[in-house]
Order: sequence, then C-alpha cells, then structure tokens
Amino acid sequence: MIKAVRGTKDILPGESGIWQEIEKISRDNLKLFGYREIRTPVIEETALFVKNIGGETDIVSKEMFSFVDRGERNISLRPEGTASVIRSYIENNLDKISQFQKLYYIGPFFRAERPQAGRLRQFHQIGVEAIGSLHPALDAEVIALSAKLLDAAGVKGYRIKLNNLGCREDKKRLSKMLKEIFSDKKGEHLCEDCKRRIKMNPLRVLDCKNDGCREIVRKTFKEAVFICGECKAHFEEVLKFVDMLNIKYEIDPYIVRGLDYYTRTVFEITHEGLGSKDAIGAGGRYDNLSLDMEGPDVGACGFALGMDRIMMALGKSKELKGVDIFIATIGGAAYAKAFGILNDLRNNGISCEIDYEKKSLKAQMRGADSMGSKFVLIVGEDEIIKGEAALRDMKTKEQISVKMDSVTQKLLEICSPRG
Ligand code: HAM
Repeated sequence: MIKAVRGTKDILPGESGIWQEIEKISRDNLKLFGYREIRTPVIEETALFVKNIGGETDIVSKEMFSFVDRGERNISLRPEGTASVIRSYIENNLDKISQFQKLYYIGPFFRAERPQAGRLRQFHQIGVEAIGSLHPALDAEVIALSAKLLDAAGVKGYRIKLNNLGCREDKKRLSKMLKEIFSDKKGEHLCEDCKRRIKMNPLRVLDCKNDGCREIVRKTFKEAVFICGECKAHFEEVLKFVDMLNIKYEIDPYIVRGLDYYTRTVFEITHEGLGSKDAIGAGGRYDNLSLDMEGPDVGACGFALGMDRIMMALGKSKELKGVDIFIATIGGAAYAKAFGILNDLRNNGISCEIDYEKKSLKAQMRGADSMGSKFVLIVGEDEIIKGEAALRDMKTKEQISVKMDSVTQKLLEICSPRG
C-alpha cells in the first residue's frame, strides 16, 4: 500500500474540528488587530528564498523542496511566508494603496527536515506581517498578538524570549566578533555544523541546539555590547510598550533566528511540551527586506506560529464532534418523512444527520450517542399516524412529544443554528 510521504500527516476528522476552531478564533483576533488575509502561492521561484532567507541558512541550504519545472524554471515549495508576502506587497503595488499594510496567512509550508514529533516536512503556520512602519509600538503589538493567539487557542505554559539583533551594520560587527572569538581554540570544540557556520554565518553559532556548543557559547558570549545607539533606543521603546501590554518575557541574547532577513527585535516562543529545542512560534523585524527586493524602503515585522505545534501543546484533550440532532427512524415511510424533516432542519441552519446503513433503532441510538448529538428525533410508523415525533434529550434522557409539522420550529427554539 502507498503511504503518506515521510514527514507529512493526515489531519483526520477527529482533529479537523479543533483545527478549524483555532483557525476561526485566530481569524477573529487577527481582524480585531486590523489584519487582512493574503493568500500567496505554495510555489515560488527558488531565487526568492535563496536571496532573501539567505543561501547559508539551514532552510535554504538543506531543507527546501526544489525542482526544475517543465519550463526549465527553478521552483520551490515555500518554506516560510515572509518572503512571499513581501514579494506580493511589491509586485501588486500594495504600498501605493497604503504603505502600511497588516497582512496574515494560514496555510501549509514545506521543509525537508528530519521528521520527528512536532517537526514535519509539511507543516502549517498562522503568520502575520505588518509592513510599512518602524514604530516600536508595532513590535510590541506583534509580540502581544502572538501571545493573544496562543491564549485564545488555549495554549498554556509558553515563554516569550526577546532579543535585539541591531541593524545590518550591528549584525556585521557581531559576526566579525564571533568569528574572532571562535577562530582560535574555543572554536575547536564546536560541532561540525558550527565550524562551518563560523566561516559562513557566524551568528548561527549562538543558537546552535547542540548541548556542547550551547555550553561553550554561554561561557564565551554574554551579550552584544556594540549595538548602535539608535537600535538600542528602539529596543528600549519596544520593551516599554511590551510592558504596557503586560506581556511576560525574558531577554535571551542567544536568539538570532534561522533566517537572515531579521534586524533589531527578534523573538521566539517556546513551550515546555515541545522540548527545549523547538519553538511554537517566532518572529521579529526585517527592515531591509522590502528594499532588498527592489521594493519601497519600509520597516516591517511579523511572526508565525506553528499550527502543528499548537496542537501538540494542546494535547489530545479536545476533540470536537458531530451534529446537534440525529433523526432515528423505524420503517420506510418514517424514513421518507424524516428525510424531508432533515432537509428542512438543515435549511434552517440546524446541523443534523440520519442513518444511511439501515441500522436497528438501538444501533441508531448508539450511533447518535457516539456522534455527540444533543438530541435524537425518533420517527416511527406510529408517530406518523399520530402526526407526532419523540424528541429525546441525550444528556438528561428526557423525552417529549413534538408535533410533526412544528418540529423545525421547536428545534430552532432549543438549538441555536450553527454560525
Ligand atoms: P520560523 O521560526 O522558521 O519563522 O517558523 C515559525 C514557526 O513555524 C516555528 O516556530 C514552528 O512553530 C513552525 N515550524 C517551522 N518549521 C516547522 C516544521 N518543520 N514542523 C513543524 N513546525 C514548524 C518563520 O517561518 C518566519 N517566516 C516567521 C516570521 C514571520 N517572521 C516574521 N514574519
């Protein structure tokens, strides 16, 4: 039998309800914060990611699903959303409508990472990009929004870690300093990846997940002392606004992020249930990206939460079920009558279901129970003659008689139609 591709996962009916619920709560909150949805293609030109995420990053150098299409174009499945959103902002002249745009996306992303719990090759993100402002209040709002979405989803026990990377010049100075520190004996004990990083992308040594490297790095490097005055002041303002919003955070000088476009504020959100190595979400500022992509010179910041990791953090506690009403029938005439009622109820926004397997009444009642239906409407030959049906409350087990011609009205009174 052909199975799902390694690192991909079916979202089964038992889970999809909770996915939809979280997506809905997120959309409601994103609207509250002034964000509008943008849907960009799942495939892009490979160069978009190579140039803008950085050729030396793990994502680009090891994890992209890239191919040459029939027209000899180099295409990749999107490994993240920021580069695509900025491409679209520039290509569609969104800045001409309004330079400041708050955009969000929910959808699948692809990275050929080594699959393990919470690390997939097709994963899903809820992401936001606020483009067109350098204001430190925006960084704070973006951080607060990430916390708001996690709270709204019911995720508990997450930690927000902030850092200031400084501007591009500051990052260059930090890279140079790290190169100097680690090119002598201290560098000898770093992992093979870090030895390569020291040459190509020294910042990434700071957030290497290898325990040995973490120890060496923490002994050697305490903080980026040379961040320029403007970037320092910006971050101080960000923290003031974050404090105003009562967001709890820690400063972590080892957060550098795995994508090269970040400048100034960066943050990661970790969750105890995912182990120390994986984040439930992350983001930050990327003030050069639009200009680098030949767009307007605008500041921007954003984040993405990993939906699959949100589900992991929530555990299997929440499974949303079925319909409000199950219509159980006895006999062919009753079934025909019930089929009409079913249609009428659905037209009135009441979710309901009927048996399609010719089950006995007892089996239909069991089915209704496992479906989680709140009420069962029982229609039999006798009921048709009397012009009445029996309505059973599955929780209280109470049963009442309702007139067949006022069933919809009665059920509308007791069940609110689903939105
Ligand atoms: P990222 O840190 O690469 O940032 O990914 C954001 C989140 O996506 C991670 O914290 C994690 O929850 C989830 N994620 C990433 N890779 C996987 C995977 N293989 N399996 C499961 N979940 C995963 C970005 O993608 C940036 N574009 C975020 C951003 C938006 N920064 C500014 N705006």
